[in-house]
Amino acid sequence: MSLLAVENLEVEFRRGKIEPVRAVRGVSMEIAAGETLGLVGESGCGKTTLSRAILGLVPYRGELRLHGEPLDWQRQGKIMRQRLQLIFQDPYASLNPRCTVEQTLQEPLWVHFRCDRAERRKRAGRMLDQVGLPANALGKYPHEFSGGQRQRIAIARALILEPEFVIADEPVSALDVSVQAQILNLLRDLKDHMGLTMLFISHDLAVVRHVADRVAVMYQGELVEKGATRQVMDDPQHPYTRTLIEAAPILSV
Ligand SMILES: Nc1ncnc2c1ncn2[C@@H]1O[C@H](COP(=O)(O)OP(=O)(O)O)[C@@H](O)[C@H]1O
Ligand SMILES: [Mg+2]
Repeated sequence: MSLLAVENLEVEFRRGKIEPVRAVRGVSMEIAAGETLGLVGESGCGKTTLSRAILGLVPYRGELRLHGEPLDWQRQGKIMRQRLQLIFQDPYASLNPRCTVEQTLQEPLWVHFRCDRAERRKRAGRMLDQVGLPANALGKYPHEFSGGQRQRIAIARALILEPEFVIADEPVSALDVSVQAQILNLLRDLKDHMGLTMLFISHDLAVVRHVADRVAVMYQGELVEKGATRQVMDDPQHPYTRTLIEAAPILSV
């Protein structure tokens, strides 16, 4: 059974009397526990809107099931906050500039688990090590780090709560290409070691192919192709997928 199933999802944005924008059109997909599903498509095709519908942040039609249980709209936000964590494009905007790394990592442990101080320290130190930052990073502030290091901190903050499921929305798009590769390798290692389940969103197929077990290709609100990453790359069925493959630079990871 899949961890998350999305069936026939539709999201429309209405603005006054003009035609509504159909941002997500009849999307169905499943994510199995422990797998990374890559969602790829050009900017504006509806990727973020789809993830916001999964989080219950925009009204939608269609059905979502978590471990086979239909998610009802009323409880969706609460359930998702408990089980799901997010990683965004710009870690500088998502990290609190006034909090040290230690505070950033410990706060969610207190809020969610009421861990005592020693336990919080221990887990924060361990998490930092897992994302490849030195122990002395704990006492520093976000501005003291490079973009890639900040994204490591944001990843640590997301994973310290041991979420069942992670949505990473363009997590490397703001980084230099050389740093992108390091963060992608980190996400891949973490997936292997922690058994992460992830929806990995990017406009860049070169990025997606390095982390995703399967890919879903989105075009103008619809999924036009789904399949194992290898299979889609080697034998794309939809013309739009072929365009993406031709446009994707080779990324040495
Ligand atoms: N809050 C909103 N109100 C109106 N239109 C929106 C809103 N959010 C997104 N859209 C529109 O929905 C479409 C999909 O946007 P988005 O999901 O952000 O795409 P992506 O993440 O793939 O770049 C775009 O046409 C965008 O302009
Ligand atoms: Mg987006």
